Amino acid sequence: MSQNISQFSFPNNIYFGAGAIDNLPEYVQDTGIKRPLLVTDPGMLNTEVFPRVKTILKAADIQYSLFSNVNPNPLDSDIAKAVEVFKKGNCDGVIGLGGGSALDASKVVQVIAAHGGKVNDYDNSTGGNQNIKGPLPPMIAIPTTAGTGSEVGSCSVITSVAQGRKFMVCSPLLRPAIALLDPELTTSLPPALTAGTGMDAFTHCVEALAVKDFHPMCDAIALKGIEYVAQYLEIAVKEPKNIEARGYMLLAAMMGAVAFQKDLGAAHSLSHALSAVCHVPHGLANAICIVPVMKFNKELCLKEYARVAACFGINTFGMSDEEAADKAIEAVADLNKKIGIPEKLSRAGVTKAHLEELTEKAFLDGCHGTNPRKCTKEDLMNLYKEAL
Ligand SMILES: [Fe+2]
Repeated sequence: MSQNISQFSFPNNIYFGAGAIDNLPEYVQDTGIKRPLLVTDPGMLNTEVFPRVKTILKAADIQYSLFSNVNPNPLDSDIAKAVEVFKKGNCDGVIGLGGGSALDASKVVQVIAAHGGKVNDYDNSTGGNQNIKGPLPPMIAIPTTAGTGSEVGSCSVITSVAQGRKFMVCSPLLRPAIALLDPELTTSLPPALTAGTGMDAFTHCVEALAVKDFHPMCDAIALKGIEYVAQYLEIAVKEPKNIEARGYMLLAAMMGAVAFQKDLGAAHSLSHALSAVCHVPHGLANAICIVPVMKFNKELCLKEYARVAACFGINTFGMSDEEAADKAIEAVADLNKKIGIPEKLSRAGVTKAHLEELTEKAFLDGCHGTNPRKCTKEDLMNLYKEAL
């Protein structure tokens, strides 16, 4: 046990359950929002979810403005346009509806609406996020995928159009006032997206668990998230309308994001570079990379991975921690196979010619700094080679 003083902080207000969306007007009232800006992406307009939300707001006589042009990786220019709509509509709060992109965009809309300026002014890497003082207009986050857990997180990832790079804006004030988790909103997610986003949630849990910090609450939450993914991801992929499986996957995603307050590890560095260089979707990249990363970390994570094996329902009685850890790694590879994730990055368009650039970018990424086993550039290259 650490001899230092530890701080544990879990301030999120979460409503969970099938049909929770019907209570949206109540939650809008609770946050004090009179005139929300609804932020979403163009794809959402063609789903069953968007008309449902519209009808609910209309029935409650809630006047709202709409910004529906968030890009898949939200751009700083998206935010500027959304804030224009916010101001024009005299809005006083934000409802983010969609996947991680819509939610990340909504979070920084709160910041610019309150403080002015450009999103780049609040970039973490320049310390700009220290200028986020609050109060910010309240936000309600409604995820329609089960992966990033952005609905309970304090960060946004935004792409600068001028600089052609992604940057983070993080502040505890960015945490939405309310996260509304309704599994009915995720039943139309196609199987490949369900699989990829679900494995992103899994990777958050397993990487957070492996970080060598003292955080027993995050560890417990990560283990429960892993258990839910192990039990329900395959069902959610194969039976998209299964509300129970969709519900547990929403919980796993939210819990993964709570757990990674502890930080992440090497799989996220590898996957950030894979998305930037080869446009491999984040969840798919994590799903493929987490298996070699778990093998790489195994010696230093025997106890943690033995618990992961138990989360998969493996009877570890009488096994050494090392045997159980091996079983956990096998179980993850097996889950990938069952949900249609390719074993190798070559199946996702990655070639040997990409390896140098990928390695350079992954090494610059901060996530591997908290990986339980220190990663050299050569280690990251070898992990890519193994995954290729
Ligand atoms: Fe992730």
